[in-house]
Amino acid sequence: MSKKSVSQSKSVLSQVMLPSQANPGGKVHGGEIMKMMDTCGGVAAMRHAKMNVVTVKVDELEFFQPIKVGQLVICDAEVAFVGRTSMELKITVKVEDLMSDSPAIVALSAFFTYVALDIQGNPHSVPELVLETDEQREIFEVRKHRYLEKKSAFNSY
Ligand SMILES: CC(C)(COP(=O)(O)OP(=O)(O)OC[C@H]1O[C@@H](n2cnc3c(N)ncnc32)[C@H](O)[C@@H]1OP(=O)(O)O)[C@@H](O)C(=O)NCCC(=O)NCCS
Repeated sequence: MSKKSVSQSKSVLSQVMLPSQANPGGKVHGGEIMKMMDTCGGVAAMRHAKMNVVTVKVDELEFFQPIKVGQLVICDAEVAFVGRTSMELKITVKVEDLMSDSPAIVALSAFFTYVALDIQGNPHSVPELVLETDEQREIFEVRKHRYLEKKSAFNSY
């Protein structure tokens, strides 16, 4: 099976937050951001696998910063690790105040796991991942460790 680099499937999704996405205090609902993350991660996973994918897991979802109506939310998704049919995507969300010169800041991040499905809906193998930077290699090793730990926990049941 062919190999694919992290940059070949990277995906970015941005959107200005509207009042309908927020609570009465003007803070955006967490679920709105999680949906954007899932969409952005799903695009990158499909780009990597070149087939349909489903979300199976969300790990380490952590909100560092509130997001307000009127701010630009920028989701960034990269394949962090691939198993045989599963792919873990690192998704980072930044917020930018369009009325100021301040740079966008990280508001939250998480790892979303997707599984590639063939046309019958069965899990299908995905291309190997080509790592291009030391940071990608580091994240890959951490995610691989967790993946193998989970597999061995499953197998011991
Ligand atoms: C994804 C799905 C088809 C996998 O079916 P399955 O019978 O568990 O298949 P397998 O046991 O062969 O597992 C396939 C892969 O999924 C991974 N996987 C399954 N459940 C997982 C979980 N909860 N967390 C992480 N990975 C998981 C396995 O580790 C395996 O990865 P690998 O091939 O890289 O080693 C099935 O669990 C499913 O349909 N889940 C619901 C998905 C869904 O509806 N999502 C929301 C809508 S998008």
